[in-house]
Amino acid sequence: MFFITFEGIDQSGKSTQLEMLAGAMEKAGISVLRVREPGGTPLGESIRELLLGPEHAGMDPWTEALLYAAARAQLVKDVIRPALMQGKIVLADRFIDSSLVYQGMARDLGVERILDLNRGATGGLMPDLTFVFHLAVDVSRERLANRGRVEDRIEGEPMEFHRKVEEGYRRLEKMYPARVAGIDAGRGVDEIHADVARECRERLGLEI
Ligand code: TMP
Repeated sequence: MFFITFEGIDQSGKSTQLEMLAGAMEKAGISVLRVREPGGTPLGESIRELLLGPEHAGMDPWTEALLYAAARAQLVKDVIRPALMQGKIVLADRFIDSSLVYQGMARDLGVERILDLNRGATGGLMPDLTFVFHLAVDVSRERLANRGRVEDRIEGEPMEFHRKVEEGYRRLEKMYPARVAGIDAGRGVDEIHADVARECRERLGLEI
């Protein structure tokens, strides 16, 4: 039925909010499917390991963009489209906007070129609603440091890269105002969830 995506820099709380929204929807009797990118299919999970393993530190930006698009193509075909056809609401932890921002903007490959690549990979599927969780880069870094597990290849990029990503998400919100809802992620989880649920009611007419 509806395809809703969750976007933002690392540690912005998007995955927590996805879970909270999924819970609220299920409580309201709505059938929900959760997916994450890259991954969500056996092939996609293998591609995720290639993409995020710190051993591939010298990965070319186009190799990176193509691998994200490859994982996405499989996920759309095998999981997302079938679920939408069955009338489910699909909630995705990252989708095409991550590629527009990380590869198109922060890696400087160009938004239009990444959009073209991904249109091919997804058959033109775009989200009905996208939440972008905005968080100060310093706070994101601090949360990452406190988490105490090894950084993946993208998390390990320099501060400058992460600043470009957060700026990119602000640009994205301006590019697609009808689809993208910006959310201040520097607040308590319940307050954020209330905003997320309200946007779903107002923009999609969902009764949650
Ligand atoms: P996550 O599961 O922690 O969100 O990790 C995925 C990482 O991959 C994250 O740092 C963002 C990055 N990414 C891209 O650079 N481009 C993409 O298209 C996607 C889906 C993720």
